[in-house]
Amino acid sequence: MKRVAFITGATSGFGRTAARRFAEAGWSLVLCGRREERLKQLEEELVATTPVHCVALDVRDAEAVSQAVKALPEAFNRVNALINNAGLALAPEPAQRVALKDWHTMIDTNVTGLVNVTHALLPTLIETGQGASIINVGSIAGHWPYPGSHVYGASKAFVKQFSYNLRCDLLGTGVRVTDLAPGLAETEFTLVRTGGDQAASDALYHDTTPLSPADIAEQMLYIATLPAHININRLEVMPTRQAWSAFAIDRDG
Ligand SMILES: NC(=O)c1ccc[n+]([C@@H]2O[C@H](COP(=O)([O-])OP(=O)(O)OC[C@H]3O[C@@H](n4cnc5c(N)ncnc54)[C@H](OP(=O)(O)O)[C@@H]3O)[C@@H](O)[C@H]2O)c1
Repeated sequence: MKRVAFITGATSGFGRTAARRFAEAGWSLVLCGRREERLKQLEEELVATTPVHCVALDVRDAEAVSQAVKALPEAFNRVNALINNAGLALAPEPAQRVALKDWHTMIDTNVTGLVNVTHALLPTLIETGQGASIINVGSIAGHWPYPGSHVYGASKAFVKQFSYNLRCDLLGTGVRVTDLAPGLAETEFTLVRTGGDQAASDALYHDTTPLSPADIAEQMLYIATLPAHININRLEVMPTRQAWSAFAIDRDG
């Protein structure tokens, strides 16, 4: 029987490329995102390769998530890999200049949304048992501070700790959990973060070599297909051309 990957945020970036990569590797797919048109296009593209079930939903809506999981057709309801990828950053300005609603949106999506999907899928993942995986897409922002990261980085720190804590409770079930934490990667992420500023997005990725969605999709497939006795707790991946910087110091004058 084909293995099933449940991918959130499949309409763009890492999620969309992961859908293509998992299809190529012979997995069946459940694909989620809010933009229905993009889901339809992806389904049309992939359906000749593998069975695809698309669900247009907002991960912040716990009821919609729960209903979508309950309504999974039989061929898709034994999930082998949950890829909790839907997420976003907003407002790269300093914390003191950010609208409260932007902080709420990041918490609602990156924390509550990820928790909603995980809670709904835990029973099927536990039923699958040996070799099942939860791959939570965190970020280097969840491990390292930087200016303008405020609630985004904090939400990804939640993803890391939630992943570790899940490992403790799922011990003995065979279900693996990973915090996959990418660094700079070129997707629509920065366009979303800057409120649609294409020039700012282009400038960030200009004259360097960021990670590509394919780089991260490959890591997702690697984690999900490791022998069942191996659990990657955290996989932090940065482009070679990105590193940390010196501590900032406030000085007189
Ligand atoms: N790119 C980077 O540099 C980077 C680095 C580290 C971590 N990450 C993380 O990687 C993940 C994927 O981001 P990406 O870089 O691929 O960005 P992206 O191209 O903007 O894709 C984000 C995806 O998340 C979905 N999404 C956002 N809010 C949602 C909601 N409320 N309900 C359902 N789906 C939602 C979007 O779909 P819809 O808009 O159609 O709903 C889209 O498919 C995110 O968790 C992000 O924080 C990105």
